[in-house]
Amino acid sequence: MHILVTGGAGYIGSHTCLELLSCGHRVTVVDNLSNASIESLSRVETLTGRKVNFCKVDLLDRQGLRGVFKSCDARFDAVIHFAGKKAVGESVANPLLYYHNNITGTLVLAEVMAEYGVKNIIFSSSATVYGDPATVPISEDFPLSCTNPYGRTKLMVEEILQDIVVADPQWNVCLLRYFNPVGAHKSGLIGEDPHGTPSNLMPYISQVAVGKLAQLSVFGGDYETKDGTGVRDYIHVVDLALGHVKAVERIVQNPGVVICNLGTGKGYSVLEMVRAFAEVSGKEIAYKIADRRAGDIAACYANPAKALRELGWQTQYGLHEMCEDTWRWQQNNPNGYGREIM
Ligand code: WQD
Repeated sequence: MHILVTGGAGYIGSHTCLELLSCGHRVTVVDNLSNASIESLSRVETLTGRKVNFCKVDLLDRQGLRGVFKSCDARFDAVIHFAGKKAVGESVANPLLYYHNNITGTLVLAEVMAEYGVKNIIFSSSATVYGDPATVPISEDFPLSCTNPYGRTKLMVEEILQDIVVADPQWNVCLLRYFNPVGAHKSGLIGEDPHGTPSNLMPYISQVAVGKLAQLSVFGGDYETKDGTGVRDYIHVVDLALGHVKAVERIVQNPGVVICNLGTGKGYSVLEMVRAFAEVSGKEIAYKIADRRAGDIAACYANPAKALRELGWQTQYGLHEMCEDTWRWQQNNPNGYGREIM
C-alpha cells in the first residue's frame, strides 16, 4: 500500500516510516522540517534499502499539499498524521501558535484529503487527553479532559475527525493515544533528537549519562506512588511504530472510528527509570528531588487490551531494551542528527 505520512521526518514518524517500508509499503512523507532533520529519512533509506518520497511542505500550505496529492495521483491508501507541535509548556505560553498549527493544519489536511477522495486517516493522539485520571490503568472509555492547549488540540482533532465520519461514513479514522514514547531503533542510527534542553525524562536522563547535562531534577518526590515520584507508561518507539503498521492494515477494512491506547500497561516511576538507565549504561545518573512540575499528574498507564483486540497489536520491548536502545543512539549521536561521532 502507499501511505502518506505527515511529520514523517520526526522521532515517531521516522521510526514508523522504517517499519512501513520494511513491510513492503510505499511511503510519501510531508514535513516542514521545523522540528525534524531530513537526515532521519536518509538513514531510514539506508536501513531499509528503500526510497522515501519526501516533500518539504507545511500543512498550512494548501497549494503545496495539493501538489503532493496531485503528484502522487492521490493514490494514498491511508494518511498517518504525526505533524504538529507537541511541547506542553510552549503551548501554555503560546496557545494561538498551537491552535493554528495543530488544528488549522489538520483542517487543511482533511479538506485536501476529501478533495482527492482519500478518506482513511490515522491520527497521532496522546494519553494527555485523559487529563488526571481518577484511577489507573486507563481504558479508552475513560473521561476526557485536558489541562493545557497542547492536549486540547489533540482532543479537538479527535472530535473533528469523528464528526467527519458522522457526516461521511466513507471516512475511516483511527485515533492512537500514545503513552510515553522512548527508545530508538536498535541500529542506533535514528532516535529522539530534542532541540535544546529536553523536557521529557528519558532524553534528559540519557544526556546526563553521556555528560551533556550535569544532574536530573526529579519533579516531585511526594506523589502517592510506589516511591513518591511520577509513574508513567513508557513505550518503545519501535513498538509504537509497529502499532501504526497494524493500524494501516485495520483502517483499510473500513472500520469507521477506532480508538486505541498504545501503551505497555506497565507503569514505571522516575526513580525506577533512573536506576534502569544507570544499570544499562554503567553510568551514575546524578539527580536531586525538586518541586513538582506544574501540570504533572501522579500516575498514568494504559489498559492495552483494546489495541490487542482491535489491531492485533501489543508491545514486545521492555524497559531494558528501551534504555539500551536509547543509550546506543545517545552515544553514537551526542548531538542528535546535527553531528555524529566520526
Ligand atoms: C515523565 C515523568 C515527570 C522530566 C509528556 C506530554 C505527553 C507526551 C509525552 C507528547 C513525569 C518526570 C520529567 C524531568 C522529571 N508528549 N520528569 N524530570 O509529562 O508524562 O508526558 O510527554 O505527546 O503528551 O505531556 O512526560 O517525560 O516529561 O515526564 O522528573 O526533567 O518524568 O514529572 O513524572 P509526560 P515527561
